[in-house]
Amino acid sequence: MEKVYIETYGCQMNFADSEVIASILQGAGYGLTTEIEEANFILINTCAIRDNAEQRVRHRVRELRALQGRLHQLRIGVLGCMAERLQSRLMTEEENVSFVCGPDAYRRLPEMLAQVRKGQRAAEVELSTTETYDDIEPVRLAGNGISAYISIMRGCQNYCAYCVVPYTRGRERSRDPETIVREARNLFEQGYREVTLLGQNVNSYSWGVQDCTVGFPELMEQVAEIDPRLRVRFATSHPKDLSDELLEVMARHDNICRCIHLPVQSGSNKMLKLMNRKYTVEWYLDRVAAIRRHLPDCSITTDVIAGFSTETEEDHQSTLELFRKVRYDYAYMFMYSLREGTYAWKHLADDIPEEVKKRRLNEIIALQGEIALKNNSHEVGREYEVLVEGESHRSRQQLFGRNSQNKVLVFDRGNAVPGSYRKVKVTACTAATLIGELVDNK
Ligand code: 5AD
Ligand code: SF4
Repeated sequence: MEKVYIETYGCQMNFADSEVIASILQGAGYGLTTEIEEANFILINTCAIRDNAEQRVRHRVRELRALQGRLHQLRIGVLGCMAERLQSRLMTEEENVSFVCGPDAYRRLPEMLAQVRKGQRAAEVELSTTETYDDIEPVRLAGNGISAYISIMRGCQNYCAYCVVPYTRGRERSRDPETIVREARNLFEQGYREVTLLGQNVNSYSWGVQDCTVGFPELMEQVAEIDPRLRVRFATSHPKDLSDELLEVMARHDNICRCIHLPVQSGSNKMLKLMNRKYTVEWYLDRVAAIRRHLPDCSITTDVIAGFSTETEEDHQSTLELFRKVRYDYAYMFMYSLREGTYAWKHLADDIPEEVKKRRLNEIIALQGEIALKNNSHEVGREYEVLVEGESHRSRQQLFGRNSQNKVLVFDRGNAVPGSYRKVKVTACTAATLIGELVDNK
């Protein structure tokens, strides 16, 4: 049996896609392996969001040449966003890549692999307006058997000025809710206790026709009602579409986790307009206030970009100011990276010097570090229900899990086992982790 080794870079969506890819290939008679040396095919599922993500993949592809020198039958394919963006150009630039396959063409992988086995090269990069892979039961790769991703929609058509995703993942389309609920129920029955519903902009999830549509709040409700012991998370929310209705559904269901990822990108209205984000700082703060009103114990996390086109010191200060106001529990912080094909690439200069971008990013990181530590220090003394996930990376005597707010708690293992819910009291913290002890360790 020919074997496939899958390596995944980038966002949660890519990790979910790799599980669909694994399922398609397994169905076509290929074996999956986690031992690279055993593989006949290495599939690299890639990210194109920033240049450094692409450079990492190119570096990895070049590094694999040595392995191909030793194992002559080893073929490499590049999948996902970078494949879509660069298409067959990638095979010209990286000669050891035998095939490229975009995010909507994974059903064609068995044919492509067959072609590659005959010594040919192959490229499938057509985007679709309908493909959601909804009939494919993903193979859970390297999972912990406790928490899993479920992709509920694909693509994005928000066209934020800096972002390549609408070009690499195509038009927005939602998946049949029945198949989503079925997948979640199957996971629960197999012992999973947490699902994360994934999409580039989950709030615009919409399925059906005219008077019979299912929107995101209803979908959340249906998944939450499978069983109170199944935790439900979701990512990502676009602030322009975060509705009170969703917050009300969350408030009604304790098993919908108290954590909302709400990417802000900038704290300056001028930048938000230029970025085509379709909201203002005032709107964003109103949404944050709505979250706090409906869900007082909800954590809020974000994404931010430093040094977008024409960003002044004043714009940057507005971002810092917004961070001080919202007091995020976690933030993914990036330097602006110009992407070919985007609106910004066509119309806006990448005019902030690298050192300035870096300095601004570092200022945001430093501020966010202080905020996270302060937020966590308020947690000391509180008790949380934690879904135990596994052994702590630091010590075999300790386990870790997350609370509903998605904060990681580490504690002495006692009689706790992975996959169970346990009460943990927070006794100390760092900016990234809460340290605690089991409350009922009998
Ligand atoms: N440069 C830097 N960061 C970007 N992101 C998207 N495009 C770019 C870019 N060109 C960030 C945004 C988005 C996250 C997934 O990646 O913050 O929310
Ligand atoms: Fe990119 Fe904006 Fe779509 Fe997010 S919402 S994927 S940042 S275009």
